[in-house]
Amino acid sequence: MALFSSNAREAAGAALPVPRHIAIIMDGNGRWAKKRLMPRVYGHKKGVEALRDVVRACEERGVDYVTVFAFSSENWRRPADEVSFLMGLFLQALQTEVDKMRRNNIRLKIIGSRERFSPELVALIEQAEADTAGNDGLTLTVAADYGGRWDILQATRRLLAERPECVAGFGEADLQPYLAMAYAPEPDLFIRTGGEQRISNFLIWQLAYTELYFTDASWPDFDGPALSQAIEWYQGRERRFGRISEQLQSSDLPPQG
Ligand code: IPE
Ligand code: IPE
Ligand code: MG
Repeated sequence: MALFSSNAREAAGAALPVPRHIAIIMDGNGRWAKKRLMPRVYGHKKGVEALRDVVRACEERGVDYVTVFAFSSENWRRPADEVSFLMGLFLQALQTEVDKMRRNNIRLKIIGSRERFSPELVALIEQAEADTAGNDGLTLTVAADYGGRWDILQATRRLLAERPECVAGFGEADLQPYLAMAYAPEPDLFIRTGGEQRISNFLIWQLAYTELYFTDASWPDFDGPALSQAIEWYQGRERRFGRISEQLQSSDLPPQG
């Protein structure tokens, strides 16, 4: 369980603003269900409900970007029946939620490889993104068949295909536009539920300077108050981006500031 820190910034009474971008590993669904003597997939179903609540709570708190890990590149290694249940749940969630998102001004983005998805799922993803593209409220990104290593590789491949001269050398600014989340600022706050303290190949490039929050709460139990607790913890941090405390004048300097 993350503890509240009392650092210099808190002592000075200057809390950070609400994070603009929160990235979440929604973990612990299977164990949550098992504890209740239910099949693992029941936990995944409950997980969709938790996501709905947390997105609403993020909107209320004024968060602009929420990015959630729904299925990792490595999750294909799970038993076939769980993988197929998760694909079905994703399909079903797109069918039932997208209309509400369109009305609630939520822009939906899906990142990850689509190569192993069914044509029906790919079509729904494309439709969902198109239907919500004009919304300018919260941006919800769902990472599905996503891996941070996949992202860096696909970005590098696309950069070199489009700008072959870069093979002689390129920098961060050349690669950045090709990363899957080029449209969003880097996450300010990372939350992982379920008790594990690892990144599991999530946004490894983009999390370089993100504040990391781990909680033992299982994802189906994570709710608005739990989110507020994580945000309050974040607001008490001091983000130095390599500098020292005394150099910090504004409350939230960007990495290259
Ligand atoms: C996270 O919960 C959801 C997905 C990976 C799809 P888990 O399914 O990993 O749940 P635990 O970690 O086994 O409890
Ligand atoms: C990470 O959770 C992926 C998602 C939440 C979608 P896992 O439960 O698959 O992570 P590991 O394999 O235990 O690290
Ligand atoms: Mg897990």
